[in-house]
Order: sequence, then C-alpha cells, then structure tokens
Amino acid sequence: MPTAKVNHPNRAPRTAIAIMAAGKGTRLKSKHPKVLHEVGGKPLLAHVIAAAIKVAPAKDVFAIIGHEADRVRESVAHTGVSFVLQKEQRGTGHALMTAREALKPYDVVIVLSGDAPLITSSTIEKLRDFHTSRKAAMTLLTARMENPTGYGRIIRKGAKKEEVQAIVEQNSLSAAQKKIREVNAGFYAFSVAPLLRNIENLSTDNPHHELYLTDMAEVLNKAKERVVAFPTGDAYEVLGGNTRGELVDIDRRIRTAKCQRLMAAGVTIFYPETCVIDSDVEIGADTTIEPFVQILGATHIGSDCRIRSYGVISNSKIGDGVLVRPGCVIDGARVDKTAVIGPYAHLRPGSEIGEGAHVGNFVEAKNLRLGKGSKADHLTYLGDAEIGEGVNVGAGTITCNYDGVNKHKTVIEDGVFIGSDATLVAPVRVGKGAYVGAASCITDDVPADSLALGRARQIVKQGWTKSKRSTGKTSQ
Ligand code: UD1
Ligand code: CA
Repeated sequence: MPTAKVNHPNRAPRTAIAIMAAGKGTRLKSKHPKVLHEVGGKPLLAHVIAAAIKVAPAKDVFAIIGHEADRVRESVAHTGVSFVLQKEQRGTGHALMTAREALKPYDVVIVLSGDAPLITSSTIEKLRDFHTSRKAAMTLLTARMENPTGYGRIIRKGAKKEEVQAIVEQNSLSAAQKKIREVNAGFYAFSVAPLLRNIENLSTDNPHHELYLTDMAEVLNKAKERVVAFPTGDAYEVLGGNTRGELVDIDRRIRTAKCQRLMAAGVTIFYPETCVIDSDVEIGADTTIEPFVQILGATHIGSDCRIRSYGVISNSKIGDGVLVRPGCVIDGARVDKTAVIGPYAHLRPGSEIGEGAHVGNFVEAKNLRLGKGSKADHLTYLGDAEIGEGVNVGAGTITCNYDGVNKHKTVIEDGVFIGSDATLVAPVRVGKGAYVGAASCITDDVPADSLALGRARQIVKQGWTKSKRSTGKTSQ
C-alpha cells in the first residue's frame, strides 16, 4: 500500500508555500485582477504573502499568477517571492499542476488562496505541524460556518473521524450535504510526492468543467493515501473575498481589528467605526484620533498627537506632539514634533515641516522645507521652497515656482519676514533677516537684513469720487 512520503528523521521537511492567485475573479465584475483588489489598504495577495513569508523564506513562496500576470507580479515583486505562470486558468487543481516543476525539490507544500487575506502565520504553522504529525498526504484546513453557502463542504469518513472522504463544491451538493456546516477553507498541506504522483488523476467532471484541487481528497483516498482535516477555531481567518460585498466585509473586519490593536497599545480613537486606518499604519501611545479620519499607507504618527476630524493622512511621518486641525490633506510629507497643521491645510509630497512650525488655514505646500518655528498661517502657496528657521510668511504669499516650462526654487533664509500678499518669482533668494513689504512682487534676490519693496506707489486723487457723482465726468 503506498504511503505518504515520510520525512527523513534527521531534518525538517523542506517546505514550500504555493499561493493560488491566477484567477480572474468573475464574481467581482471588475477589469482588475481579483487578488489586486484591496482590503485594509493593500491588495488581497499582499496580505497572504505577508503571512507566508513569516513561515518560509520568500524564495520558497510561489505565487501562481495568470490573469493579468504582469500587473500582479509587479505589485508584489518587492516581497522577493517566486512566481509560477498559469497561462490558462483551468481551476485550482490546474494551478497546482502548473507548479509541479517548482515543487519537486520540496517535501511539503502548503497551499494558500490568494483571495483569503485574513490567514495568519500562526495558523499556517499549525496546519504544517498538524500535517507532519499525522503523516498525511493531504491535510485541509476546515472551519465551521453559520452560513456555509459558497464554500466546499467536508465529507468526513465518520462523525468523529479525522479522515476526510471528499470535498463537495457548492453546486454539486445534495440536499443533505447542504446542511453540512464544516467548510473547506481553501488552505491545504500536501506531501509533495503523493501529490505529484496523483494530481494527473483529477478530472473536469464537474459543472464548471474545471480541475478542482478539492477533488484531490477523493483522488488520494482512491490511491489509499491519508487525507485529514485540521479544524480551525477561527472561521474569521478563512473568509474569502469573491464578491464586492465580501471584500467590503473583510475590509471592515481588518480595520476594526486594527483600531482595537491601536487602542490596546494606548491610542484613543473616537468613533472608530468612522475612521479608516490601513493595516501598516503605526501610531504612538497617547495620540488621539477624532471621528472621520483616514490614515493610509505607510504612515507613522508619533505619541501625544491629536488628529482632529476630517483629515486624510497618507504615506507620511508625523512626529510627537503634533496637532493636525480639522480638514487637512497630508500626503507623502514629514511633520516634525510639536508642529501645528491646519485647519484645511494641504501638504503635498516632499513637504517637510520643522519642529514647532505652523501651517495654517488654506495653505498648500509642495516640496517645501519649512524650518523650525516658522509660520505660514493663512491662504498661501509654498511650492519648491526652502524656508529657514523663525520665518514669518504673511497671508496670501505665493511662491511662483513654475514659469510654464520649468519649476524653480525659492530660498528664504532664517528670520525673514514676508509681508502679506507677496509674490516671490523663483528662482529667487531672500537673505537672512530681510523684510519683504506687503504686496511686493519679488523678482530679484534680496540681500540679508534689507527691506525689499516691489509694488506700485499709492496715489490719491482727492475729490475724484465726488466729482464723478455730480458731473458724471472724471479727470483721469
Ligand atoms: C475554493 C474551493 C472551495 C473553498 C473556497 C474557500 C475549489 C474548487 N474550491 O472555492 O472548496 O471552500 O475556495 O475560499 O478550489 N485560482 C487560480 N487558478 C485557477 C482558478 C483559481 O490560481 O485556475 C485561484 C483564484 O485566483 C483564487 C483561488 O485560486 O485566489 C481560489 O479560487 P476561487 O475561484 O476563488 O475558488 P472558490 O470558488 O472560492
Ligand atoms: Ca475564493
């Protein structure tokens, strides 16, 4: 009787992880590949890879890609995983057939679904260890679900038995089988030798005419190999995102869990159900997040900050003790400790706001370096500008950084005072301690400690209005 390959007693089994990620995702009705749809702020597949590479080195993790393979590869290539191309997607069994050559050097392969992003490294390890301890050819992770519709059901060899007879897909279920609550989670461990010996025996004899990996349970049973179930206590971890509704549900669960983790670590989040915080965001203790805030991407927020309502902060680094007043959009920026931003400020990529600096109402910054303690409090555009420490930028100031063809830089040295409504036509430099008069148009460099005025002189025509009113005529 053939037996599952027993691992050599003196070494750990060589383990590969295969992630099935080639499908189109028909049920999403999308032009984008299913595994690139995002939950918790990153693609489904990125979550699964993150769990996998905690269990095995990235080179032993094989993403099986097919539909829009180049896009999928590009989006996760930075993780260092290997790829297998499944040119035609003829089912989950076919996906594994495609990976045959890649899997040959291994003893065990753990198979993950690229569309089930909640799986954790600890469950993958438990599945692997259970599989090894049972000396099985196939171990499938199972879960009990209140509403199992859509999932494959587990037919055990007996009520109390660990051994599995077969997995039956939703559209082949008999009326009695529909009552089975134990579902196939879509995660498996296989011993590579019996898998490769038998995988050719899969057939397309099913309503979708596909090669189902789930049929390996029956195929291996026929070959007298051992097939067992490893039940997980946590049905949450195995949810798959096949429809928009399921994706949104998974997204909500990820974000709720994220908020709970942050709160457990000392962050106050008021009305967390109104906040959107991505999986990889980091926030320090004693920071308060008010309702309706989005914190996205690789954002890091320090301790003792207050992020007031209606802010959207993405891919930014915010220091300790920063106050972000309501309605700010901060993207790809750095804000140093104790700075005050907003309300309604827009920090665009490349902006670096120094310690204790203020960026106030309706101020837009792009590629700005604003020094320690400097202030730009009202109605201002600061683009491609390097501003020193202790500078006061008056209301309505504009750096004219674009000449229609190229971008140019404005340099404002320490201690400068820029009067309201100044326009600084770059490239231009205002030297240390200089003053720029209100409403000046500055086109030439201003030396240190001087006053620059670049505006028309005021003239007053006495009696002009009175004369217009009485005669309808005016002299000039
Ligand atoms: C699958 C299982 C079902 C289980 C459920 C758990 C099969 C036949 N059914 O159903 O028993 O309850 O997962 O979530 O396996 N894929 C490929 N190549 C293909 C086809 C699919 O890589 O040719 C990938 C998909 O991109 C997806 C994964 O395999 O990431 C699972 O495929 P999917 O079509 O979502 O299977 P389910 O219908 O969810
Ligand atoms: Ca699925």
